[in-house]
Amino acid sequence: MTWIKSIKAIQVLDSRGLPTISCNVVLGSGVEASAMVPSGASTGAKEALELRDGGSPYLGKGVEKAVDNINNIISPLIVKLDPRDQKLIDQKLIDLDGTHDKSKLGANAILAVSLAVSHAAAIDKKIPLHKHFADIYKDITGSTLEPNLPMPMLNILNGGEHADNNIDIQEFMIIPKGAINFKEAMRWSSEIYWNLKSILKKEKLSTAVGDEGGFAPNLQNNEEAIKLILRAIEESNLIPGKDVFIALDCAASEFYKNKQYSLSGEGRSLGSEDFTDYLEKLVDTYPIISIEDGMDENDYEGWKILTKKIGHKCQLVGDDLFVTNKKIFKNGIDENLANSILIKFNQIGSITETIETIHLANKHNYKSIISHRSGETEDTTISDLAVGLGAGQIKTGAPCRSDRVAKYNRLLWIEEENEDLNLSK
Ligand code: PGA
Ligand code: ZN
Repeated sequence: MTWIKSIKAIQVLDSRGLPTISCNVVLGSGVEASAMVPSGASTGAKEALELRDGGSPYLGKGVEKAVDNINNIISPLIVKLDPRDQKLIDQKLIDLDGTHDKSKLGANAILAVSLAVSHAAAIDKKIPLHKHFADIYKDITGSTLEPNLPMPMLNILNGGEHADNNIDIQEFMIIPKGAINFKEAMRWSSEIYWNLKSILKKEKLSTAVGDEGGFAPNLQNNEEAIKLILRAIEESNLIPGKDVFIALDCAASEFYKNKQYSLSGEGRSLGSEDFTDYLEKLVDTYPIISIEDGMDENDYEGWKILTKKIGHKCQLVGDDLFVTNKKIFKNGIDENLANSILIKFNQIGSITETIETIHLANKHNYKSIISHRSGETEDTTISDLAVGLGAGQIKTGAPCRSDRVAKYNRLLWIEEENEDLNLSK
């Protein structure tokens, strides 16, 4: 029998230099594995609770309480269980916490254990993590999926909460859709990134980067950001709208004030209808095929207008809107909000619940995009999750900074070792 022998967590640092949890699981067989949890900055209000210590150490951002919860409260409950039974273990964690937002033990504590257990189980089964995730999906939902390599969405120009500049839209991403495989997708993206850097230098704009590795120059407005990226695509001998497309994450909740979308960079405020027209014009003018959080997370009327007007010609992704939460997402599906969902496992706090949300998306023809957080670590679990569940898309920052490229590098290895897997188009 395979069983968990011990669990131990410590506080480590994330890519912003702030505390997060690293959790190690040892099995009776001697197999051991560890995992780390990410952390957001432009978080959705209904996300599961990330337990922080408060007080003065680390400006209140310590996670020692969550670490203690793992070592002293969670560990005795999980030891001796079979790590391959992810569903049972996650359910025990959820029951032990007993709150709707995991605020007793902390979603960060619960997720750290959930992730580390999955890694240990995969090693014990002598299969790659992505194959183990495919098995868990089958176990939880009773159905199977076609694994594939996700199309990357690379955030190469940063604004909003992730950068200290004057751009309102948080992320300007490239999607190398015309690439024949993942390796080519990464080469194109790296070339575009470097050509963008040269262009910024030529224009005497800053080449400092934001939290996700994308450049964060001060620009006139959002459209200037798009135009610079189009230039970089062309200078890479690629064709915008054929080889490479653009995606935006507005993170609109961050600039929604008094029922107005306040574009400070552009010096104007727009209501939901006008902001929809603004986004529609961008979609009609530029090769933009995906917009995330185009409306505030509570502006359901705005979301309805947006979905009705441009949902047929553009992927509309709910991030802060759905917070990877099955119940909230189901309401959104019933209300016809958006047509895709961003998946961040720390928004909900366990692998099982994350998989259940993806299953719900599959059942209702919503696309799932597996995503990093702006605060990351070298942990690459999301790469395996994207492959094993055949999600088709992954968003994990610029092709720069180890916390971001670790995920892409893991995907390059998965491609190398699995000739049967195709890049999702
Ligand atoms: P966050 O942002 O990780 O800072 O919440 C990422 C996103 O909005 O997609
Ligand atoms: Zn987002």
